[in-house]
Amino acid sequence: MAISITLTLNIGILLLWGLKASSSSACNFPAVFNFGDSNSDTGGLSSAFGPAPPPNGETFFGKPAGRYSDGRLIIDFIANGVGLPYLSAYLNSIGANFSHGANFATAGSTIRRQNTTLFQSGFSPFSLDVQTWQFSQFKSRSLLVYKQGGVFQDLLPKEDYFSRALYTFDIGQNDLTSGYFSNMSAEEVKATIPDILNKFTIAIQSIYGEGGRYFWIHNTGPFGCLPYVLDRIPILASQVDRAGCGAPFNEMAQLFNEKLKKTVDQLREQLPLAVFTYVDVYSVKYSLVSQPRKFGFGHPLVACCGHGGKYNYNIHAGCGKTITVNGTQQLLGKSCGKPLTRVNWDGVHYTEAANKFVFDQISEGAFSDPTIPLTMACNKHR
Ligand SMILES: *[C@@H]1O[C@H](CO)[C@@H](O)[C@H](O)[C@H]1NC(C)=O
Ligand SMILES: *[C@@H]1O[C@H](CO)[C@@H](O)[C@H](O)[C@H]1NC(C)=O
Ligand SMILES: *[C@@H]1O[C@H](CO)[C@@H](O)[C@H](O)[C@H]1NC(C)=O
Ligand SMILES: *[C@@H]1O[C@H](CO)[C@@H](O)[C@H](O)[C@H]1NC(C)=O
Repeated sequence: MAISITLTLNIGILLLWGLKASSSSACNFPAVFNFGDSNSDTGGLSSAFGPAPPPNGETFFGKPAGRYSDGRLIIDFIANGVGLPYLSAYLNSIGANFSHGANFATAGSTIRRQNTTLFQSGFSPFSLDVQTWQFSQFKSRSLLVYKQGGVFQDLLPKEDYFSRALYTFDIGQNDLTSGYFSNMSAEEVKATIPDILNKFTIAIQSIYGEGGRYFWIHNTGPFGCLPYVLDRIPILASQVDRAGCGAPFNEMAQLFNEKLKKTVDQLREQLPLAVFTYVDVYSVKYSLVSQPRKFGFGHPLVACCGHGGKYNYNIHAGCGKTITVNGTQQLLGKSCGKPLTRVNWDGVHYTEAANKFVFDQISEGAFSDPTIPLTMACNKHR
């Protein structure tokens, strides 16, 4: 009798303890605000400069959906992973629904402002500083318009969502590639990293100043494994690693990531009310490219959608490129038809299958600092 009472009590205490642990950790983020480049663009560049053409979107949406992929991006899996719908692009004025967040990312975005136009260099005018101004505008106007009631309350976030939301970042790759594309040496690119990270810090401070508290920051991927880099920037055969990637580019990405991680550590000290999660997507992407078979993938360096060459990538005939022959349109940049087993979609971006793989690897915290799951990224674990 006495034993069974003790047991029951113990089980009760264990249950209570378990409940307490789980209730103090699930964040229930009511919104996600994302900042970034094409790796997380859900329609921004398409809204401003014309749509991503078919066959983008062929796997999941069945039509182009503003994303440079055959389907969903990591940010789509993140939004769903915290129980929210896909994010509308801030720049999309038609059919957008911002009730659970907004996406400020556009393809070609950099952290630093570029001194060239999109038409000259392909880099977006919506650099990270511009994205933070857009966020600030989004916040102040949506708070005003929400008060008008009616349909606006079904389209815009509630006031308290801004301080409870998850703020996600995936940007920096284009700052590094833009250096290489403008013929900088590795030393010169390296010398730009402190300024890039300084601008990144300013952006985070600005969002913190607007009340943002929970920050989820992806590091930059192994861009030395992307056809558009391998095709455009010549390197020596001795600089190609065992996976077929350009080692100097990946070393630059890793150097950037090391410094980004330190920058995030500094931000933790500067902004004591914030919670930062640094997520090592580099390692996940590199393991996928270097050991594709282990994970059910093949041809990691060959674009699924493209037109010819060693990497099925041609800058003049990208995915979805059409030409007019004798008055009829022909698709040059075609899909391989099997993006489910492919890593690279169009020479620049990952397939939905690869994006899902990355999300599955990072969502439980195995690649995060600190190692906490996405759904608990509002808790300080230090
Ligand atoms: C753009 O030009 C300004 C002024 O010369 C310079 O300070 C800045 O670093 C340049 N930005 C980039 C991305 O090269
Ligand atoms: C916007 O999305 C939310 C969440 O999915 C939904 O509840 C709301 O009805 C949508 N608003 C409109 C106007 O469709
Ligand atoms: C970089 O160098 C190449 C080869 O010399 C040249 O064709 C190209 O115009 C240069 N690009 C820039 C942005 O200076
Ligand atoms: C276009 O039409 C002309 C005249 O009919 C024909 O000679 C030519 O082969 C056609 N070109 C292609 C690429 O089909």
